[in-house]
Amino acid sequence: MKTLSLRFVVVFYLVCALYTHIASGSGPYKPTWESLDARPLPQWYDDSKIGIFIHWGVFSVPSFGSEWFWYYWKTSKSPNIVKFMERNYKPNFTYAEFAPHFTAELYDPKHWAQLFKKSGAKYVVLTSKHHEGYINIS
Ligand SMILES: *[C@@H]1O[C@H](CO)[C@@H](O)[C@H](O)[C@H]1NC(C)=O
Repeated sequence: MKTLSLRFVVVFYLVCALYTHIASGSGPYKPTWESLDARPLPQWYDDSKIGIFIHWGVFSVPSFGSEWFWYYWKTSKSPNIVKFMERNYKPNFTYAEFAPHFTAELYDPKHWAQLFKKSGAKYVVLTSKHHEGYINIS
């Protein structure tokens, strides 16, 4: 389990470092899709059959829909999301009002690491920020 946690930290660091490197524009890659798509995938990534991406944030509070909750509710006005909000929240409730209820009280990294290891996943990526702008757990 310690190995998995260390691996997670290493992968997370590498992703951050890669992003910083690309964003600075100082490496072999430029911040364009054409340039980024030209980079080779690391062998360990190609060899991995299972990886886990964690999407856990303010959008998790209503426990309905997906990490795109805000977009489906306010932009595309998806009927099932709009209906869900009408049924379960006061009129004019705002997305920002979900934020104080994201307390991450079920955050249990040791248990998660055991579960991820048992699943056979070779890497775990924690999504740190979504389109709605809230920084998630880190
Ligand atoms: C909700 O907002 C609308 C538009 O601003 C307003 O007319 C209405 O009174 C508000 N409803 C409540 C319950 O606050």
